[in-house]
Amino acid sequence: MARYASIAIAMSARKNTLRVLVLSGPNLQLLGTREPEIYGKETLADIHKRVKARGKELGAQVDAFQSNHEGDLLDRIGKARGTYDGMLLNAGALTHTSLALFDALRAVAVPCIEVHLSNPEAREAYRKESKVAPACVAKVSGFGGDSYVLALEGLLRWLARRST
Ligand code: DQA
Repeated sequence: MARYASIAIAMSARKNTLRVLVLSGPNLQLLGTREPEIYGKETLADIHKRVKARGKELGAQVDAFQSNHEGDLLDRIGKARGTYDGMLLNAGALTHTSLALFDALRAVAVPCIEVHLSNPEAREAYRKESKVAPACVAKVSGFGGDSYVLALEGLLRWLARRST
């Protein structure tokens, strides 16, 4: 963990605090009560709190946003260039359908980590394909709410590696 901290400190010494946007898509506002045997009992607000706290420890400011509307997610991604150093995206079911999210990620070229609480590849056949994966630098899935925290740590390491 000290390694993550030193990476973030080194990066924030070179420029201002890193900024990370965390986006969550449809039905993720229901976490806590939504199929807890698959998604766990943690609410999205709890997860956001944990990711923001971890970001603070590592020298990154984390903004978090959830929407059930594809267009709202597209608007946030569309404005990300120049504001955010990186993004985490749990697109929910839009993961498996949205060419528009793929296009938006490619268009802004802000490094993005695909995030899932469950492990979609181990579930129904229709969850095996991710439309957004080819526009992301990595994916973290299957760790419940920890997927978001692990993805943040991975993103910061990825950014540190790119900047050296
Ligand atoms: C999910 C996996 C998706 O297949 C599903 O539609 C979701 C949640 C996850 O976090 O595990 O809504 O993205």
